[in-house]
Parts: sequence; C-alpha cells; structure tokens
Amino acid sequence: MIAQPTIGVFALQGDVREHVRMLQGAGVTALPVRRPSELARVDALVLPGGESTTMYKLAGIFDLLEPLRKRLAGGMPSLGTCAGMIMLADRIESGIEGQETLGGLDVVVRRNAFGRQVDSFESDVDFVGFDAPFHALLIRAPWVEKVGEGVDVLATVASGPAVGRIVAVRQDSPIIVGATEGAGLVASGIPALLAYTRDMIPLENRQVAEIKPGRVRVLDFEGDEVNAETIHVEWDLDAAEKSGYEDFMLKEIFEQPEAVRNTMRGRVKKGRITLDEVTWSGADLAAISKVVVVACGTSYHSGMAAKHAIEHYTRIPVELDLASEFRYRDPVLDAHSLVIGVAQSGETADTLAAVRFAREMGAKVVAVTNVVGSSITRDADAVLFTHAGPEIGVAATKTFLAQLVALNLFALYLAQERGVMDPAKIGETIDAMRALPDQIEEVLTLQGEVHRAAKRYASARDFIFMGRGVGMAVALEGALKLKEISYIHAEGYAAGELKHGAIALIEEGVPVVAILTGVALYEKMLGNVSEVRARGAETILIAPRNDERACTLANELFEMPVTKPLLTPILDTIPLQLLAYFVAKERGLSPDKPRNLAKSVTVE
Ligand code: AGP
Repeated sequence: MIAQPTIGVFALQGDVREHVRMLQGAGVTALPVRRPSELARVDALVLPGGESTTMYKLAGIFDLLEPLRKRLAGGMPSLGTCAGMIMLADRIESGIEGQETLGGLDVVVRRNAFGRQVDSFESDVDFVGFDAPFHALLIRAPWVEKVGEGVDVLATVASGPAVGRIVAVRQDSPIIVGATEGAGLVASGIPALLAYTRDMIPLENRQVAEIKPGRVRVLDFEGDEVNAETIHVEWDLDAAEKSGYEDFMLKEIFEQPEAVRNTMRGRVKKGRITLDEVTWSGADLAAISKVVVVACGTSYHSGMAAKHAIEHYTRIPVELDLASEFRYRDPVLDAHSLVIGVAQSGETADTLAAVRFAREMGAKVVAVTNVVGSSITRDADAVLFTHAGPEIGVAATKTFLAQLVALNLFALYLAQERGVMDPAKIGETIDAMRALPDQIEEVLTLQGEVHRAAKRYASARDFIFMGRGVGMAVALEGALKLKEISYIHAEGYAAGELKHGAIALIEEGVPVVAILTGVALYEKMLGNVSEVRARGAETILIAPRNDERACTLANELFEMPVTKPLLTPILDTIPLQLLAYFVAKERGLSPDKPRNLAKSVTVE
C-alpha cells in the first residue's frame, strides 16, 4: 500500500477550505495551513493554485517551509511551481531563466517551449497521494490547461550520488513518464520527452508512477502494480522545435503538405482504402444506421465538413454535436450507431466524456486523434490516427487539415465497405486526395498576399466569415482562428443566414471573408457577397482560380487550385490560417500563446 500522509493546503488567495474538502473527498487526509506553526501537523504541502513561484517566494513561502523541512529531516520538502507542475522536493534552487534545479536531487525541470510563468489561474487542486520519503513529486493540475501552460514540461531525475525517484500522480491532466539508463522522465506532453526517449508510458487516470533512472513502476491508488502499456513514438524531434520559423504556428502551417501526406500514407493499397486500425467486420459496418460526430472547437469544424462527406459518400445520416452538449441532449443511440469522436489532443474532457457516454449506450466508437497513447485511444473501439506530427501552437492548424483528410478517408472507407459507391468514383476521389499536398504547397505561396491583406485589416474591430455547405465549416474555422489569436471579434456564418440578423452588423469597412469554392450554391453565394458589398463591406474572397465574377466582387482575392468540392476545405482553410497568423503578428501578439487558451482542454 502507498501510505497516505497528511497533506497541508496553503493558498495566498481563494478559499483553502474548498481545496481541503476536495482532497478529503478523494480520500486524502488534508488540513488547511494558515501559519508556520501549523506545518508541524502535516507531512507535505500543496499549493492549489493561484500564484507563481515568484509570488510564493515573495510571500516567504520558502521560509514558511523551514520547520517542515527540519521536521522531516531531509525527507521532504521544498516546493515550487514550474510551468504547470507543482513540485515538492528536498531542495529547490531557482536558477537560470527557464530552468529550476532541485539541487539536492539532481532533478532538473526544464520549461516548455513557451517558458512562461503561470501567473494567474483558477484553482482546481489535484489529488495527491504518495509514500514518503520521496525525492520529488510532480502534480499536473488542470488549471495549467486553462492558461495554456505546461504542454511540454519535462522533469528528469539524473543518476548520481543522490539518485532520486519521482512519484507522479495522474488525476485528469495528462502525464507521460519514461526512463533512460541515466534518468527518470516525467512530462505533460510527448514532445518534451523526444530528446531522451521514444518509449514512454502515458499514465491513465488515477495511476501513480514511481520513476527512477532505468525503471518505471506504475501503481494504482491501492498500491497494486499495474501492467502499463509502453508506447513507441515515431515523431521527429525536429518537428517539436521551431527550426528557424518565428512561431510554431507558422511552422505548422507550412508543415501541412507533409502532414497530409502522412495522414494518407499506407492507407490506400491497390486502389482500395485500408484502415488497419478499424477492425469491424463488413457486417458490422453494413449494420450502421447512423453516424454521430462529436468534437469541440476546430475538431468540431472538421466534423462539420465530415458530415457532408459521410452523407454524400455513404448515404448514412450523420448528426453533428458539440461534445459539451452531446450527452445532455439525451441522444438516441444503440448498437447500430457509430460515434466518431474527433480530438487532436485526445485529451479534451468533453469529447472524452461524450465517447464514454456513447459506449455506455452501446454505440460503436471510433476516435480520430493525433496523439498516440492519449486518453481517447483507450475509450474508443477503434482509432484513426492523423499522423500530423506534434503540434505545439495552441491554434490547431496542421491537425485540422489532417483530420479533414482522415475523415474523408474514413467516409470513403465506409462507402467502399458497404459497397454503396462506384469504385471508379472512389478512385477519382483518392486521386484528388493524392494531389492535395502539392496543391497545399501552391496555396502556401499566397503567404505574401495574405500578409498584405492582414496589414490592411489588422485594426478592424469585427470580421464576418461566411460560407455554405463545407464552406461553412471553413468560415467557422477561419473566424475561430482569427478570434483566438488576434482577439478580434469574428463571426462565422452560414451565408444564407446572414440576412436573418447578422447583416445588421455590416457597415462601411467591415471585412467579410467569403468562401466561394466547391459550393453547389455558387450563384447564391455571389448574391450574398453582393449584398454585403452594397452595405459597405470590404470583401475577402476565397474563390476558384480565374473566376472573373469573383474578381469583380473582391477587395482581396485568394485563388484556389481545383479539387473535388468535398475536399475544398483542405485548401480553403490555409489562407485563413495565414490571415489569422499575420493579423496577430501585426497586432503585436504571440500566435503560439493566446491568452486564456490551452492546447489540451482537460477540464469540462
Ligand atoms: C483550436 O485552434 C482551438 N485551440 C480549440 O478550439 C481546439 O480545437 C479544441 O479545444 C479541441 O481540441 P481537441 O481537438 O484536442 O479536442
């Protein structure tokens, strides 16, 4: 059994009692600590959130800990926060910017690429359980996700005279552990470990890992050893670094041709789509009577485009749900329902809850994710990896395109297996998909033009994005990209809906982005563009190449190569990603680190 010591809870702000209650609810003996004398009553201390290391130092927290340190005579603890992990260790020396050294232990905690101090967060204390004495305890806290921190935090315990161990506890927020001959490793994301090892263990919820150089032991909360699965990660280390680009987001936009190639790789053999990870029988697939796509944010937008593709190719009805809404609407599901959970991170709390709910209801579940070993892979019956490589920028770019490709492949696969689509038509669509990486390269050459447009509109107060059909998914995604990194108010709209209200927002100079490609209702779309121009809007059009009519209606025109209508989002989104990026840069903002956002949203 892992002995559970008494945990003290200290906070400069907020209601300590609430955190104590949460810990007690998780079966932990916990007490509030308000003054130094109270430290004698506890074995360890947690800071539930709200302040950075610096603030604790200012508050004299390290002095406050002195009695406890003495009492435990070298066992425990000092305490600090570092890019998303709370650390307790024998000794913490605050070192060079971006590094903190737990001196007595040879423990080095390296900040993630963003290197930002957490300076404000809401409190959500994690459960802490461990045996003493230990050398370092790392706790991931959900608040980290809320502020976008800690994606790549890495801690190592090096070998040496004071070989230590780290005890890492997972409660909701992802923790990845591993070990080399010389070090034990803990991180909050796979990229942080790539320089050290390709073999790692993603902890499951409520698991405890004891990590030493060369060895990882995983236990459950009862102290029983668990046979945890080690995953092998193929990601390229370079892919987790900026490689000369100013920002990860820009680099990831330019990695899209390769990302799409990788999503396609090995999945079409002799003209047939083979998805090795999908092992349902032909009879199982034939029995599907409806598909439900659940996702959040950008993944929801790829799901929206997928709805069109699946219905068109397979004629199976598709429902699309925001994962945060899905299980509260009492959805009708049974064994003939197929639920597709889309989450690049594989850790989005709402999407995880939605797929778990779907499985409980007896539905089949397939997950579409970019992260091997992520939680969603354990909650689904089948997994379709997008293979886009690590995405560090908070704004999803290459994972979105990879999702669109994976979902189109999946839709074609369903049609193929159910025998409802002419194989020649499937072949044509596959050929069009094979051409996409080169076409993406072409679209990326618009970078300069998009930058010029971004300069022109960077001080706009509002933006409207509109489209129809799959173009609506592009419009919503374009608006999301812009608002999340430039903080400009942006609305994504179904173009036909504009006249039912939003057109009232149009006044002289408001930029309106319209998606004109691949639209069956092209004429109507042109009509919508004329309507907003008549009211003074500045029009930014994503249009087919050499389209004269679009040309006459555009203040800014981005011409797209020709592809199949259902594949157009894979090209049309790119100028909008670039637009958002350059607008953010023009406004002096950092696209990789948008305020209030996180790469993985592990809280509901
Ligand atoms: C995308 O740019 C956003 N950061 C966000 O909307 C994201 O797509 C959403 O949180 C879902 O993430 P997931 O794909 O990891 O589930």
